[in-house]
Amino acid sequence: MCSIIGYSGNESAAPVIVKGLRRMEYRGYDSVGVATESENQIGVKKGVGKVADVNSKMNLEDLPGKTGIGHTRWATHGKVTDTNAHPHPSNSGKIAIVHNGIIENFEELKEQLKKDGYDFKSETDSEVIANLLQKNYNVSKNVKETMITTVSELRGHYSFIAMFEDGQLAAARFHEPLIIGVGKENYFLSSDVLGFIEQTDDAVYIDNGQFVLIDQKNMQIFDFSGKEIKPQITKVSKEFADVYKGDYAHFTLKEISEQPETIFKAGENTQDAIKVSSDYLKHAKNVYLTGSGTSYNASLVAKYLFSKYAKIKTESIIASEMQFSPDSIEPNSILIAISQSGESADVLEAVNIAKKANCKIISIINSLTSTLARESDIVIGMNCGPEIGVAATKSFTSQLIILYKIIQELSIEKIEINFQEISTSISKILEEHNEIKKLANEIKGISDIYVLGRGIHYPIAIESALKIKELTYIHAEGIAGGELKHGPLALMDSNVFVIIINPDDSTYHDTLMSAREIKARGAKIIGISDKNSEVYDFWVKLPKTDELTYAICETIPIQLLSYYAALEKESDPDYPRNLAKSVTVK
Ligand code: AGP
Repeated sequence: MCSIIGYSGNESAAPVIVKGLRRMEYRGYDSVGVATESENQIGVKKGVGKVADVNSKMNLEDLPGKTGIGHTRWATHGKVTDTNAHPHPSNSGKIAIVHNGIIENFEELKEQLKKDGYDFKSETDSEVIANLLQKNYNVSKNVKETMITTVSELRGHYSFIAMFEDGQLAAARFHEPLIIGVGKENYFLSSDVLGFIEQTDDAVYIDNGQFVLIDQKNMQIFDFSGKEIKPQITKVSKEFADVYKGDYAHFTLKEISEQPETIFKAGENTQDAIKVSSDYLKHAKNVYLTGSGTSYNASLVAKYLFSKYAKIKTESIIASEMQFSPDSIEPNSILIAISQSGESADVLEAVNIAKKANCKIISIINSLTSTLARESDIVIGMNCGPEIGVAATKSFTSQLIILYKIIQELSIEKIEINFQEISTSISKILEEHNEIKKLANEIKGISDIYVLGRGIHYPIAIESALKIKELTYIHAEGIAGGELKHGPLALMDSNVFVIIINPDDSTYHDTLMSAREIKARGAKIIGISDKNSEVYDFWVKLPKTDELTYAICETIPIQLLSYYAALEKESDPDYPRNLAKSVTVK
């Protein structure tokens, strides 16, 4: 997923664009670039690296002019190089573009453009858009006509912004986010409200199959056939404006530390939706759950909760797998889609398949203005505030809290979940962060880490392994405790660390036995439990609570362990290599 941003107004464009890119960098951070127009000349500066590095190297902010576009890249087509960085100028240099998404028919278009005499400098699919616009503009000499012709030739999911040498901006959206920021005397175009929230909270969300024309004073929206659309201005909640690390070194640590508070905010802004959802679920023919990554792991916890507490059988399906077994969705069922961003392409695809089977879509989402929110029948807001760190932390526990609230409504033997106790328990664990910091030093040189759990703690083990993988780049795997002797025990030796999730509940004794079997093979054991044991080489103490509270609390020490181990390994916890916060391409 990349970030695209455009500006047209009465200020110098480059500094405004660089600031916006910095706030959207979590979306992709392989390379960055800015182009501006001044006196009918387009200037481009771009390079590999993060915004701050490339800016200090190339003085991006010095580019002249009051109109500009910018981009941070997460490479899909073409290596991470200066040439492949955006913006991409057309051959004539009279148009420059920035692009997010994938142009699926770029080879065919590139071949035709080469025959028409165009040449290409980059390996990207994006550069095709620049030359296609140039070719069509040479014919029509009209930006609106050029956009209508060009979007009719593109295949794939994309959003792009084009800047013409006369300073006009044109942008199109097809399944990748594009938002207009409407300022007093200026306009912004952006993938994310974070790109302009400091300048204005008036936004227009562009829908699929629409394009925008902006010059210094005027903004017009059209559908792909050229029919004008009336702009609908939405106020963006100011909470996005506080997206700063505060006194934390990284967003990831800030967001881990916010969890005692976000526990109370989960679902708070959509209480009715929880009640309505529970009624639907109670009478549903079939209930399916889907998500990607951490959100899929939350759906595995949900599967356990529905079965144990509400006697409702559910099926969790990895979102990206849904397209390969579309018949696994019975018509007229309910699909619970879980997604922090609400923009994961795989989740949107899975929802599309379920809607074709006439399913009702209940979504658990953090971003209520996302595509998934618009595609859902019922939306339950995670309400945990913007999560900038690529690793999902507070969003995971917020998802679980919402699932707990649904289960509380559906439980056969009425359960009363003590959210205060969950919050207090998390605070107690956070107070022990120095102990966990020391433990990070122990694992930094390890190449394999296993996380073992039973019952509700098994999906937590899978989620914990994902945190370790994406923050420390150490191979990690979640194991069901009972599966140990069916294979994974062969992996146990003095080179590995095993994290045993073992609170004192119904899984305790069996899991302690597993720890002994692993210890006997020489592996180092980290025990996460309210009870210590001589089998643990390291003990991470949990407050004594109950099964549901344990399941949320036990993930916190592993979030912290992964964060501190990332620092020990000198990688950037906010922006892990090769990843992006929301995977908006398949
Ligand atoms: C989790 O730490 C990862 N960043 C990733 O697996 C993430 O959970 C996944 O891409 C799903 O994102 P979503 O919740 O925004 O759909």
